[in-house]
Amino acid sequence: MKVSKKILNLLHDQIAMEANASNYYLYLSSWCKVNGYEGASSFFQNHSSEEREHMLKIIQYLNDLKINTVIPSVSKPSQNVKSLEQVIKNSLANEQKVTKSIDKIYGVAQNENDHRTSIFLEWFVREQIEEEDLFESILQKFDVIGRDKLALHEIDKHLQKLSQK
Ligand SMILES: [Fe+2]
Ligand SMILES: [Fe+2]
Repeated sequence: MKVSKKILNLLHDQIAMEANASNYYLYLSSWCKVNGYEGASSFFQNHSSEEREHMLKIIQYLNDLKINTVIPSVSKPSQNVKSLEQVIKNSLANEQKVTKSIDKIYGVAQNENDHRTSIFLEWFVREQIEEEDLFESILQKFDVIGRDKLALHEIDKHLQKLSQK
């Protein structure tokens, strides 16, 4: 096999993590829609698709090496969101968790001199910088613009714009 058992297990966990992220953002998109945040809803709909793309990238990497992948079942997200700010906070926390996980696999790949996997993961390392920055910047808006109804409307419009990019 072209990757070690350890790397394979970690990549399988990562496939599950991306699938769960996609599922979680779908829940957030749905929550936003029902609660009147149209912009945030489209933003999270797109973000959910992006996470699915991440999952597919890893599956493709393994398949290109002629390695079978395990397609994970997704877990039901905890449906406990109460506010738009919490939606963003939870998303940032999720991205921080993903960053840790990517860093871990990258570290193992480097230790094993698995350059192929290291190079493959570089895309994810860079992506996580953007992902954390994205949610940190949105979260900052609550401090800058505020949390009253008008401010939330502005933030929703901002998310609408982001979803069109
Ligand atoms: Fe991701
Ligand atoms: Fe992400």
